[in-house]
Amino acid sequence: MNKFYITTPIYYVNSHPHLGHLYTTLIADAVARYKRQRGFDTFFLTGTDEHGLNIERAAEKNGLPVKQHVDNIVNEFKAAFAPYRLTNDHWVRTTDDYHKRAVQELWRRAQANGHIYKGKYEGWYCANCNEFYSENDAVTGEDGTPICPTHDRPLDRVAEESYFFKLSEFQNRLLELYEKNPNFIRPETRRNEVMSFVRGGLNDLSISRVSVKWGIPVPEDPDHTMYVWFDALSNYITAIGFGNDQFGGEEHFNQYWPADLQLVGKDILRFHTVYWPAFLMAAGIEPPRTVFAHGMWLSGGRKMSKTLGNVIDLAVLQKHFTTDAVRYFCLREMVFGHDGDFTYETLLERVNAGLANGLGNLASRTLTMVGRYCDGVVPAPGQANADLTARSSEVRDAVKQAVAQFDREFDEYNFSRALEAAWSAIERVDKFLSDAKPWNLAKNAEGRGSLESVLHTATEALRHLAVLLVPALPNATQAIWEQLGEAGKASEVAPSALEWGQSTGKRIGEVKPIFPKLDKQKVMDEIKQEEAAGQAARTEENKAPQAQPPAETTSASAAAEAASEPAATPSYITIDDFAKVELRVGQILTAERIPKADKLLKFTIDLGEAEPRQILAGIAQYYEPEKLIGRKVIVVANLAPRKMRGLESQGMILAASIGEEGRPVLAGFLEEAPNGAKLK
Ligand code: MSP
Repeated sequence: MNKFYITTPIYYVNSHPHLGHLYTTLIADAVARYKRQRGFDTFFLTGTDEHGLNIERAAEKNGLPVKQHVDNIVNEFKAAFAPYRLTNDHWVRTTDDYHKRAVQELWRRAQANGHIYKGKYEGWYCANCNEFYSENDAVTGEDGTPICPTHDRPLDRVAEESYFFKLSEFQNRLLELYEKNPNFIRPETRRNEVMSFVRGGLNDLSISRVSVKWGIPVPEDPDHTMYVWFDALSNYITAIGFGNDQFGGEEHFNQYWPADLQLVGKDILRFHTVYWPAFLMAAGIEPPRTVFAHGMWLSGGRKMSKTLGNVIDLAVLQKHFTTDAVRYFCLREMVFGHDGDFTYETLLERVNAGLANGLGNLASRTLTMVGRYCDGVVPAPGQANADLTARSSEVRDAVKQAVAQFDREFDEYNFSRALEAAWSAIERVDKFLSDAKPWNLAKNAEGRGSLESVLHTATEALRHLAVLLVPALPNATQAIWEQLGEAGKASEVAPSALEWGQSTGKRIGEVKPIFPKLDKQKVMDEIKQEEAAGQAARTEENKAPQAQPPAETTSASAAAEAASEPAATPSYITIDDFAKVELRVGQILTAERIPKADKLLKFTIDLGEAEPRQILAGIAQYYEPEKLIGRKVIVVANLAPRKMRGLESQGMILAASIGEEGRPVLAGFLEEAPNGAKLK
């Protein structure tokens, strides 16, 4: 029996599940269902990536032990995915013991083969962030010293002991892998990108940290914690029995490895096509067969992200759309490999057009007529007139061609084209019914043969489509299957096993609508309200001390600093301490970007003084300067002036810091407040 091993990325538990995560998982699920239905011995893996500094920090912010924090988020992922009844064979967690042991084994092998060495990692380090910054990420200060983009302080040049992976030695072997296996990286455009990156030369990779604790210890040197990608990428082999006894261990591993398809978003392609095969080669393990990078769902033209606040909430999605509708939309709307813009309006239109008016309508009109004109028993093809006989066999051929085309496209992971092929058959049968007008044929006895021929053809087409569309619409196709009077599971019938005509004589089941039509206006109104409520709830959640850190009112640029304060023990200040801070109402007179500083905006602000002040704030990634002119803000007026990028900042603007990434939201007033008024 042919095997098929398919994986999704393992999702970071430093963020809540959203449509982006569900997307990759649904596509993988559709492929797994497709392969199983066609007789492949399939293993489908998904899971969660639970180590690293960010996760340690997020737990700290929530005031929870790290394991409890990650358990909570993992449960959230599982709950959000549950309605989709995914057919994954396992959910890997990088905090599971079998994974940890096996990653250490992988490390040992790579080290024994001479691909790991101990050295010194030198870089620009921020003690507040506890993190190294590349010169590109840091802001350059006046004297040329890089400055922490979060804390506005000079970075320290620090060297720490680290293990390195000799990635530089793998350049030729990787290029050979790409050349010999054109399908290793798909689609083609991505393959070219990665090849030119690797041709440019590779540096050795630092793969351990002494400053990070939440992770897997390096074997025989537990002061070092493994770099997250070494740990995370290994899940694809540890979960199926490499270096442990999962599912029986080695035998199971050899049965499924190398993976046939590793799905990833294009954001993490390089890790999967450069680091991953190199780690495997270093340990003497074969690389996977195909890594396929899909595009990103955009929302409002931008990548969905928590920071931008434009993620699609799975709870809202699930409330209004069946899981099949979401699957259909994901497979059909996004050309696999390209980006796609998500809007609820488009989703509603596609669901109404393709499912309610398309497949759903074909099923209900066909089955209703079998009920009405043939006592609920699928007729054998009757003696039709020559024209109808010819048209019936054309429809049969068109359906058979669509079935073959669907498989050809699906095998190439062209999901949207596969569905187009199926829908061209649906339209064809629909037109056949509309032209043949069985309701007229039923009016007199002479039409009987033609009527039976038409309904036989339409029912057979529907039966073939129900089996064909199992991977895309598992629930709806099963419902159609049962309404057709068929026993068992449509998912257990291979399309190639169907023969035209087998439904003759079957008594159909109760006919019920499969995809009721959605009222676009009504659903949109409800969604808008729910999204607004969700946003408000999230803001509230940010304020609740146990659940999330307080939504700090702090300078936008120092947001992360305050956010990393542990929430456990409140430390109070006196009223006198507070009185030392002079807060005043200011009005933005001018606002502009600063050349070569991506994060800073320069303002002049009227504080009711003789001269307006020049103030800088690190909010350029979140606000358009032009839109801020005239806005009232709160300014810390007695902060010692300081220089950033050679420009003096004479105060600080206050903003709430939202979420772990510290998205700034400027503080302001609902009522008129004169410039310069003091806040108490
Ligand atoms: N933990 C790493 C992956 C390690 S794999 C060994 C990670 N996690 S993540 O939670 O950030 O998930 C990234 C993946 O989620 C993307 O590669 C993609 O599969 C999916 N998506 C996240 N946002 C997405 C969109 N907006 N659109 C489509 N898929 C997206 O990176």
